[in-house]
Amino acid sequence: MLRRWFSISVIALLFAVAGYLLIPSQTATAAQKNERGQKLFMTHCASCHGADAKGNGPAATALKTAPADLTNIPKENGKFPALKVKRIIGGDDFVVGHGSREMPIWGEVFRAKRDRTTATSNIYALTMYLEFIQIK
Ligand code: HEC
Repeated sequence: MLRRWFSISVIALLFAVAGYLLIPSQTATAAQKNERGQKLFMTHCASCHGADAKGNGPAATALKTAPADLTNIPKENGKFPALKVKRIIGGDDFVVGHGSREMPIWGEVFRAKRDRTTATSNIYALTMYLEFIQIK
């Protein structure tokens, strides 16, 4: 009887340890995914939109049109407009502040000209990051 209780508590302890080890590793992968989007944002967007994405980057004062607050992108049907954001980053949709379609201010990084897979996954990571930083 004592042995049985002992093995039950050992099993319970193992589950507790496994749970403790597994949960932080899941959040780590979520953070890692976002880290990629965050890096892309810092490199290509923060100069205008600001490191906090609120629209106050160092280049913002030099622009005729103020950069949008990207922590509060208007919802469409109550949802984050991921498709619209992807189209803006990919250059399918035109935004005055982003240069021309032929010459987007971030260059070829999000263009599928040479490497479609990388361009698509860059756009995806950045869009995920923007969705993640929405204030509501
Ligand atoms: C040269 C400055 C500049 C850079 C760099 C820049 N933007 Fe912008 N962005 C603007 C301006 C200015 C606007 C507002 C344009 C307007 O209202 O027509 C804007 C608008 C937007 C919008 C539309 C927001 C809305 O509420 O509809 C999105 C999305 C966006 N930017 C994403 C990005 C992303 C992602 C990057 C990096 C890949 C980036 N921008 C880099 C200047 C910039």
